[in-house]
Amino acid sequence: MVNLAAIKRTLLKHIGILTSGGDSPGMNACIRAVVRSAIASELQVTGIMRGYQGMIESDFVQMDGRSVSNIVQRGGTILKSARSKDFFSAAGRSKAFSNIQSLGIDALVVIGGDGTFRGAEEFRKEYGIRSIGVPGTIDNDLAGTDYTLGFDTAINTAVDSIDKIRDTANSHDRLFFVEVMGRHSGHIALSVGLASGAESILLPETVTDVNALVASLRSGGNRNKSSNIVVVSEGDEAGGAFKMAEEVRKLAPEYDTRVTVLGHIQRGGAPSAFDRILGTRLGVAAVEGLISGKSDVMAGLINNQVVFTPYATCVSASHAPDPELIRLAYLTSI
Ligand code: F6P
Repeated sequence: MVNLAAIKRTLLKHIGILTSGGDSPGMNACIRAVVRSAIASELQVTGIMRGYQGMIESDFVQMDGRSVSNIVQRGGTILKSARSKDFFSAAGRSKAFSNIQSLGIDALVVIGGDGTFRGAEEFRKEYGIRSIGVPGTIDNDLAGTDYTLGFDTAINTAVDSIDKIRDTANSHDRLFFVEVMGRHSGHIALSVGLASGAESILLPETVTDVNALVASLRSGGNRNKSSNIVVVSEGDEAGGAFKMAEEVRKLAPEYDTRVTVLGHIQRGGAPSAFDRILGTRLGVAAVEGLISGKSDVMAGLINNQVVFTPYATCVSASHAPDPELIRLAYLTSI
């Protein structure tokens, strides 16, 4: 019988790897896993700098086992990252194809978010270059995986910061609005709020009612709560932390209110052990998936098992925060 998997395997000789979109802690662990597992399967690996932009500008670097030494513990991405506008154009993709074709790259591992996977799928449809994605974003907003690379580190970074804010909030009996990242998704805010014991968590997935928030803060005051932390997701439909603080000041001037926007601190720093292991598992899975002939799928982790999900599902299906966690956050903030 003809072994199709073996035929596909022999066609694959040279993998390109890139990181695209917002960087996230754990990307380097994933790059290391891709490079070393590909080499173990006798594949050549080329690093593509600055995401798709590097393909267009021929910004390539040959990778060997030593080129990824000492990076598993480092945040950021050694391949750098970009959100390439040029790759959206047919002319940009055509240039990218001719550049990787001249190097002999015949498949890609793309680490990033939804835009990264949309670009990869378009590229495969036009030029037949297969790819497998790895979810690399702190936002945890992709379907097809319980966790994206960098989410765990980002929430730990934010929790560590809020613990510090709590100390000073407590000393001065203050109300803090702390804004966390997440773009349109409330995953970061929910986990961070839950883990830091926030009095209230404002998410894009729930309706924010300023009057109800003030009532809940005052009711906490009646139960001798002297300091308050409100975690605000940057994508909350009612506005960010500054807007919320302004609204609450108007309704409840008795509070001494401060605002902290945590910002890009959440994107950097040494990856947690969880993110290093996740990056390693998904990186190896991506290479093995390409070897077995897969394409246009993202390697993710569901119930602690590696699974491959079509790009189209990952970017269109919703991965909303768990309502049970919302319930727990509410119950335990009383
Ligand atoms: O997608 C990751 C993320 O950090 C979001 O949480 C945030 O909204 C956005 O990227 C910030 O993007 P930039 O680094 O381009 O300002």
